[in-house]
Amino acid sequence: MKFEKLNSYIEEKKKIIDSWLLSHLPPPGREPKPIFEAVYYALFPGGKRIRPILAIASCELTDGNIGDVLPIACAIEMIHTYSLIHDDLPCMDDDDLRRGKPTLHKAYNEAIAVLTGDILLTMAFEYMSNIKLYKNPSLPRIVMVINEIARASGKEGMVVGQVADITWEGSSVTEEKINYIHTNKTAKLIEVSVKSGAIMSGASYREVEVLSEYGRLIGLAFQIVDDVLDVTSTSDKIGKKTKKDLSRGKLSYVALHGIENSLKKAKELVERAKEKLAIFEEEKCWMLKDLAEYIVAREK
Ligand code: IPE
Ligand code: IPE
Ligand code: MG
Ligand code: MG
Ligand code: MG
Repeated sequence: MKFEKLNSYIEEKKKIIDSWLLSHLPPPGREPKPIFEAVYYALFPGGKRIRPILAIASCELTDGNIGDVLPIACAIEMIHTYSLIHDDLPCMDDDDLRRGKPTLHKAYNEAIAVLTGDILLTMAFEYMSNIKLYKNPSLPRIVMVINEIARASGKEGMVVGQVADITWEGSSVTEEKINYIHTNKTAKLIEVSVKSGAIMSGASYREVEVLSEYGRLIGLAFQIVDDVLDVTSTSDKIGKKTKKDLSRGKLSYVALHGIENSLKKAKELVERAKEKLAIFEEEKCWMLKDLAEYIVAREK
């Protein structure tokens, strides 16, 4: 099987991520109810955990210690999960299925969904800035990474991308607009996941640059494939409603290029991303190469 080695790598890292989250989050029953229960609802069993796995893989590739990237990796997953909760709200994409379950505002209510997003985002920064949570804390690296993640999640990335995604619904689709949306709403957080792993390990400037470029390329490919799966997959497979982008007038890759050409573009991006890894030894960068391929081959 093609991704056998990668699948066991993913399973191993997922366990580490889940147990870190479980041992650091407040218990689900903590008052005031139901906020921490909702946090658990959103995070478990969770999704693919691609972003924290990328952070860990990039840290391992550059000889870092997993204990120095885990608080960052798990915080990124919390930020990503918050973005999904808000993305699904009736005032945004208005979805009722996420990660195979009713969306948070359906399972609870809108106020709790907004607040669960808020608390995931703020707890992410609380954990990342708590030096007691790192194995060998390096303050300059931690500060640098927190700044990068704040930028990629907010005014230089995800939030402004989401603003464009929502406000440009129904407008004419151009290459420039779609690249702006996809780069910001999705690729920046994926890029910073990879970049953070390298910064936390103390990788060289050149390694950090190369891994950022890799992250940006697979990040764009990731959202292109998300657009394709909206058309080609089913909600049973993917755990969220499909065939919604077109009817909502979303500016998607498929709307601009069609399915075949979108997939071709995603594959090209992934090939370019893999080429970037040429500065690393083959035995050490296999997981980033396979993760890049998995992003276009995935069915969910
Ligand atoms: C979905 O992200 C939202 C996008 C940015 C495309 P994922 O496909 O990584 O969702 P989960 O975390 O696996 O549920
Ligand atoms: C969401 O993009 C990107 C985020 C920043 C959450 P989509 O709206 O396409 O994600 P899905 O398809 O609902 O997961
Ligand atoms: Mg959206
Ligand atoms: Mg959505
Ligand atoms: Mg989508």
